[in-house]
Amino acid sequence: MDFSSARHAILNVVKGMRAGDVPQLLHWMKTTSDFDEFTSNNKDIILRSIAEDLRHSLPTTAMISSEHLALQKLHEQTKPTLHVDAFLYDDDCFDSLCEKGEMSRNYCLTCGSHRTAPLEFISHSFSLTEVKFLYEHVLPDLTGKVVVDVGSRLGAVLFGGYFYSSASEIYGVEMNTEFCQLQETVVEKYQLFDRIKVLNADICTQAPLLKNADVVIMNNVFEYFLDRSEQARCWKFINENVRKKGSLLVTVPSLEKSLSELQVDIPLNQWVEAIPLHYDVFLEGNDREALEEICLYRIL
Ligand SMILES: C[S@@+](CC[C@H](N)C(=O)[O-])C[C@H]1O[C@@H](n2cnc3c(N)ncnc32)[C@H](O)[C@@H]1O
Repeated sequence: MDFSSARHAILNVVKGMRAGDVPQLLHWMKTTSDFDEFTSNNKDIILRSIAEDLRHSLPTTAMISSEHLALQKLHEQTKPTLHVDAFLYDDDCFDSLCEKGEMSRNYCLTCGSHRTAPLEFISHSFSLTEVKFLYEHVLPDLTGKVVVDVGSRLGAVLFGGYFYSSASEIYGVEMNTEFCQLQETVVEKYQLFDRIKVLNADICTQAPLLKNADVVIMNNVFEYFLDRSEQARCWKFINENVRKKGSLLVTVPSLEKSLSELQVDIPLNQWVEAIPLHYDVFLEGNDREALEEICLYRIL
């Protein structure tokens, strides 16, 4: 049934009702969650459409030449590593690229031979599954809350926040100008500017924003993009400014792991309390592994 026939059918149902019951039906239609399954499907479709738009604006590596340090760090990995952006390429998408020969799961051990070994993969974005898990299972109801994504890159966390939460203000802070322009293009095209703001800045210039945030999200922000002394400086700044009592901090990986190799003294037990998460909602192998990296803390 197309839209016009469905609309006609609904109006006929209303017209055929006992007049006294019509207000009750209209109230139910305005307030019920019975339609959620249809609207949430629609949200998935919009996010997939955003990912498709972004895929067309980027090379398959989803990295850009101005990311000098990130590209260098990728080449320095001990095992051959490929960047596959999990927001842009879900498993089906990745498989179809492999079939077309545009990507590979393996690398050649002896160039030209059939001896191959699996590549390591890194994603610099959350996948759609991770974004949904974040907003539907990790975070509480965000009605009226301010969310800050530190290092927003392609905007997966911002767009997810728009469609899967009721946060009133969603800020992305990204130091790379080209990625900010891409996020802005999406915000403009999908008319998301009532709740999303993209700031092209180093997070260390954004003290008031961090101080006011109810939720701060940090997905692998610094490790691949800054040298160790810069990472330490940024973490110190985060520690000094994410201080709103009761606010929430989401990190990937855990704070302990992020800070373990840096020369920075942050007494975690005086700053945050870890909140255990239940990963049982997703029992699948790969997804589960990625989800288990997500950690939630409450600021003391
Ligand atoms: C791994 S990506 C995270 C992407 C996004 N938050 C997500 O989860 O999909 C990290 C991003 O942080 C940015 N970044 C690194 N250090 C930063 C800083 N000091 N200030 C702002 N952005 C930074 C990088 O340019 C990179 O795009």
